[in-house]
Amino acid sequence: MTYLWFKAFHLVGVVAWFAGLFYLPRLFVYHAEANEQPEAVRTVLQQQYQIMEKRLYRIIMTPAMVLTVAMAIAMVIVAPDLLKEPWLHIKLGLVVVLLGYHHFCARLMKEMAAGQFRFTGQQFRWFNEFPTVLFVIIVMLAVFKNSFPTSAASWSVFGMIVAMAAIIQLYARKRRLEKERLAASSNESDEMADGLRAKGSA
Ligand code: HEM
Repeated sequence: MTYLWFKAFHLVGVVAWFAGLFYLPRLFVYHAEANEQPEAVRTVLQQQYQIMEKRLYRIIMTPAMVLTVAMAIAMVIVAPDLLKEPWLHIKLGLVVVLLGYHHFCARLMKEMAAGQFRFTGQQFRWFNEFPTVLFVIIVMLAVFKNSFPTSAASWSVFGMIVAMAAIIQLYARKRRLEKERLAASSNESDEMADGLRAKGSA
């Protein structure tokens, strides 16, 4: 029974941790894209993103990460034979990578607060997909354990990466077309204004 309590709160921690791991890099995308805005708008937006990132990291992500790991350790203490399971060794390896990602996010946050942008908005979109891939593999490992369906898993991860690449490229294309349309319409209105001015002075 105690084990199930730990497992339940392990899962609560996982859900909250991943909410942050998915949303924080999305804020990084907007934060980096705010750089392309005029000075006044840029300052306001970047200050707002900094506050949102800091709160998300400190109030949700880090406590949820601690809860996930603490509950996992508690499960292993209650059922120490788990440590002999090969699936858990692989899962632990992937969790170490995830912890690295978590801490790297904190470093990126500090850099951006100091005005240093290591990645562009488009690169952050790719960065944002990394925890998704880890999430799917870790959950599959936790569920299938030692009978992990290797080939089905590799194909689903491969399919997911291709789908993400396609979505990111399509979105970038949509934004480029929107920008071109905006630039064309502002050129048109400039030309109209010039025409009216020329008429007025004639
Ligand atoms: C310190 C790192 C972690 C350790 C040591 C750990 C360990 C464990 C253990 C021992 C179980 C119970 C397995 C069972 O009773 O069948 C479990 C369940 C589970 N874990 Fe983790 N875990 C860790 C991190 C994570 C992360 C990061 C995720 C999500 C990406 C995750 C997702 C799950 C899921 C979905 C289950 C439920 C599996 C089931 O009951 O079928 N775990 N974990």
